[in-house]
Amino acid sequence: MLTGKSVLITGGTGSLGKALTNHILETYPGVKRLVIFSRDEQKQFNMAQEYPHDNFPQIRFFIGDVRDYDRVKRALKGIDYVIHAAAMKHVPIAEYNPMECVKTNILGAENIINACLETEVERVVALSTDKAAAPINLYGATKLASDKLFVAANNIKGWNPIRFSVVRYGNVMGSNGSVIPFFLNKKKEGVLPITDATMTRFNISLQGGVDMVMHALETAWGGEIFVPKIPSYKITDVAEAIGPECEQKVIGIRPGEKIHEEMITSSDSYYTYDLGRYYAIVPAIPRWSVEDFVKEFNAEKVPAGFQYNSGENTEWVSVQELRELIKEHVDETFSVC
Ligand SMILES: NC(=O)c1ccc[n+]([C@@H]2O[C@H](COP(=O)([O-])OP(=O)(O)OC[C@H]3O[C@@H](n4cnc5c(N)ncnc54)[C@H](OP(=O)(O)O)[C@@H]3O)[C@@H](O)[C@H]2O)c1
Repeated sequence: MLTGKSVLITGGTGSLGKALTNHILETYPGVKRLVIFSRDEQKQFNMAQEYPHDNFPQIRFFIGDVRDYDRVKRALKGIDYVIHAAAMKHVPIAEYNPMECVKTNILGAENIINACLETEVERVVALSTDKAAAPINLYGATKLASDKLFVAANNIKGWNPIRFSVVRYGNVMGSNGSVIPFFLNKKKEGVLPITDATMTRFNISLQGGVDMVMHALETAWGGEIFVPKIPSYKITDVAEAIGPECEQKVIGIRPGEKIHEEMITSSDSYYTYDLGRYYAIVPAIPRWSVEDFVKEFNAEKVPAGFQYNSGENTEWVSVQELRELIKEHVDETFSVC
């Protein structure tokens, strides 16, 4: 799919951006150009060491800020596919610096959309989060606004064949700033802070996140929000898996945190289709026939009132499975007890 194509990843130096880079270079060595777009030169410098030009002549590093429309537009010249992963994603930091989060996550999204419409980009996939479903914190609210912008961008494209879609998922195992590296680090102190003993989260591997983005790039008709079917874990089980000998200290829920995360709300259920491996929330007013979509993907409408919630999931990751996943995906030095 990407052979001979030029791809740009905003936030290409982040957890997901790097996993996507790896995947694209391995799976599509014939990719024409792979542009990593982000702000921090040091992260780009470090990443460039991993991809020496002689071995990876396709990769380019482009310093830029998604808040800067002109820079975004310049970076998109000659690009066919865009994966928009750049974001501010830390809940407490967004609460404390709300306008910064609005500028990056909402105005940045708007810049990407406008610049894509002004260039020859064919497909855009934006990354969303479970926190965007019925959001209670600013990070989630900005990602919901971003999702709405990307979905609605399909309405203003006129005859431009470009397609915008969104992928929404939960906690990426071991990604920057997530609970597993946090507990692995805290383990030495003998105490693992738990915000609430009943808390649950969805769990997806980096590769699972990459697969979803590739699925959306390949199959989206425009305006879908793709949601993966993934298991949940209990936060106390993550603590048990990482530090069975550690005390679990309940410290109380943090501002803007939910006990359980949701990816599809009951209000979304009226527009949600089961595609087998994924769900798709289709736009309320799609530019294509939902009947044809159902036929093409053998899709089934979910029952009215359906919710996809980490606390009511039917699939769970056990303590032992968590240990194995952490060992496999996160920390090679972590020993399975
Ligand atoms: N990790 C998860 O558990 C998770 C779960 C659900 C959804 N997501 C979503 O997935 C996406 C990627 O997450 P991640 O975990 O890979 O994040 P990450 O590791 O924090 O990476 C974020 C990337 O965005 C870049 N960036 C931040 N602000 C920017 C700006 N204004 N302009 C250009 N680049 C900017 C960062 O580089 P610089 O700082 O150098 O600019 C970095 O490359 C985000 O949209 C996030 O909301 C993540």
